[in-house]
Amino acid sequence: MDTSALRAKFLGAAAAASDEAALEEVRLAALGKKGEISALMATLGKMEPEERKAAGATLNILRDEIDAALRAKKAALSDAALDARLKSEWLDVTMPARPRRMGTIHPVSQVMEELTAIFADMGFAVAEGPQVETDWYNFDALNIPPEHPARQEHDTFFMHRADGDDRPPHVLRTHTSPVQIRAMTEKGAPIRVIAPGRVYRMDMDQTHTPMFHQIEGLAIDKDISMANLKWVIEEFAKAFFEVPSVEVRFRASHFPFTEPSAEIDFRCSWVGGQLRLGEGDSWLEAGGCGMVHPKVLRAAGIDPDQYQGFAFGLGIDRLAMLKYGIPDLRAFFEGDLRWLRHYGFAALDMPDLAGGLSA
Ligand code: PHE
Repeated sequence: MDTSALRAKFLGAAAAASDEAALEEVRLAALGKKGEISALMATLGKMEPEERKAAGATLNILRDEIDAALRAKKAALSDAALDARLKSEWLDVTMPARPRRMGTIHPVSQVMEELTAIFADMGFAVAEGPQVETDWYNFDALNIPPEHPARQEHDTFFMHRADGDDRPPHVLRTHTSPVQIRAMTEKGAPIRVIAPGRVYRMDMDQTHTPMFHQIEGLAIDKDISMANLKWVIEEFAKAFFEVPSVEVRFRASHFPFTEPSAEIDFRCSWVGGQLRLGEGDSWLEAGGCGMVHPKVLRAAGIDPDQYQGFAFGLGIDRLAMLKYGIPDLRAFFEGDLRWLRHYGFAALDMPDLAGGLSA
């Protein structure tokens, strides 16, 4: 039996098939139930034994050969299809992800992070204290005795004691200064800490809310002076407002817990309602400061004959309003989502000095 013509025909057709459907047609035409090879196989039964043996062997070989060619071609076609898909559907996994907004960081939180980064760079650790304080930490230990007028000035919120408990009531802390006492009592001297946090006073208008934020600073060591204080405030202002220089003025003032005491002013100008720091004829009030009073050191268990140092307190909300041009303080705490989306910061951009604070 001469099968060379059939062989050439089907191997040629398999090689020429351009897709899997065409290849399947070739398979059916050769090896399908009604295919030519199958038809020849069906004739074997009517042959003489000798002839059948030879023809059967030839047909088996041919069938296997065509089958192998079809399989090889099928594999090649599907490899090519995969290659084409990979080319059209490729994905550059090295591309940066598309930013997805997952809420925003409140400007107060942002500014607290910025302050922490700036003061950490100057060697200040973060200290904490409770918002519900005893009157001893909030007042007495800070040299504000019960009859002192500063107690009235602070418009304090008092917490009720249980009936029959006649110890003095707890207060909502009116400033972050009690954290000075807690930090010194806990860690002793020398010490360098900042304490950002919430404070409370009974006051409400466009520039006051009953809850607001302060940052306390405290540095105690054996040879600390007002000059160190001024340098720290100047460095802070330059870093925070991201300007090359800021003129700082200390205006004589009075706080029971510092002696001498000063108000901190930054030189500034207002051009078209825009604040410019470091130039101009206006002064911007930023907070209070001074050398820690010996009585305060003693209340916190530190010997004022060996140690002295400075403390300062700045209003965080005001700093945020100034830096980010936010006009109304009350809007800070209304929780209006449109306001938060407008003034908020991207959740994953943590401020640090190397990366640019507000970048
Ligand atoms: N605690 C003061 C206030 O709330 C600010 C201050 C802090 C002043 C530290 C001097 C030293 O007004």
